[in-house]
Amino acid sequence: MNYLPSDSRYQLMRYNRSGRSGLKLPAVSLGLWHNFGGVDTFVNSRDMVLRAFDLGITHFDLANNYGPPPGSAEETFGQIIEKDLRLYRDELIISSKAGYTMWDGPYGDWGSRKYLVSSLDQSLKRMGLKYVDIFYHHRPDPETPLEETMQALDFIVRSGRALYVGVSNYPADKTREASKILRELRTPCLIHQPSYSMFNRWVEDGLLTALKEEGIGCIAFSPLAQGLLTDKYLGGIPEGSRASKTHGFLKPADITDDKLAKAQKLNELAKSRGQTLAQLALAWVLRHETMTSVLIGASKVEQIEDAVGTLKQLDFSNDELQQIEMILDS
Ligand SMILES: NC(=O)c1ccc[n+]([C@@H]2O[C@H](COP(=O)([O-])OP(=O)(O)OC[C@H]3O[C@@H](n4cnc5c(N)ncnc54)[C@H](OP(=O)(O)O)[C@@H]3O)[C@@H](O)[C@H]2O)c1
Repeated sequence: MNYLPSDSRYQLMRYNRSGRSGLKLPAVSLGLWHNFGGVDTFVNSRDMVLRAFDLGITHFDLANNYGPPPGSAEETFGQIIEKDLRLYRDELIISSKAGYTMWDGPYGDWGSRKYLVSSLDQSLKRMGLKYVDIFYHHRPDPETPLEETMQALDFIVRSGRALYVGVSNYPADKTREASKILRELRTPCLIHQPSYSMFNRWVEDGLLTALKEEGIGCIAFSPLAQGLLTDKYLGGIPEGSRASKTHGFLKPADITDDKLAKAQKLNELAKSRGQTLAQLALAWVLRHETMTSVLIGASKVEQIEDAVGTLKQLDFSNDELQQIEMILDS
């Protein structure tokens, strides 16, 4: 069946400016880390991408190594582009990354210019694209000079392979250094992609301030703590869930009694606000003015619909924020 996007796709979504750039991203973005690989069902992956686009999600986040096997999420996404979205390329913000192990030998990992440029060429081929909108260095490299990695990002933009660049998993001090180098090269850092959720608050200790001061946007990954901040694990580990899969990054040992007790209390609070726990968790991440987008994952279309429903109720009273702090500290 030929895909025709919904005419109402821009009505519900909010679009937030990324730092001091000209680019706006949807408040909810979709990541293809899990559930879009060669081991997954193509029809479901396609349904999720197209439903997301129909709901105003214009931003899809990938990386060279997403799968499994590594590279296969980009191949899946490339097939969806080819089949359904080629006409809408100018309405899409597609990102990829390199920084984790991708191929054998000294040039398939970390942050050298050799790795970043050749990896992005491979990603473009897998996705059938001429350029990505955002290219990230995926994690800091303790050995390669930061100048080399940032010069590689600058080259990637100047050579037309990407429109913007960003960094991921960089601590605050290294982010400031990277931003300074990129500014001097006149390819400003568009965005930072850190992990952030109610269960993982490291960005509050300096990174968000650095991003605000540097004029860099922020897109928070794993805002649902891979599913722990939903009601899914409250009654055990369901069949087919991420924690039940051998290749999933959420392990049964991560589902502790302490986290479940907190999730249970947060679930009650969410209900009192007329929200699901996932919606409460996403609204809470979006409460920061520096937060450009929450980068969710999904295994079903309904999860994407649930996430977009967050936008109906983003405000918190001071009392609700205090209750959340008390639950997280308990
Ligand atoms: N830069 C980095 O280093 C890095 C690292 C990790 C991720 N990321 C990016 O961030 C994206 C999101 O990461 P993530 O998948 O860990 O995010 P997440 O949103 O915290 O977790 C997504 C998982 O939560 C469950 N879920 C989502 N919505 C739900 C709902 N409404 N009700 C019940 N369960 C729900 C699903 O699990 P089930 O599969 O069990 O249904 C889903 O796969 C990735 O795709 C990737 O693009 C980046």
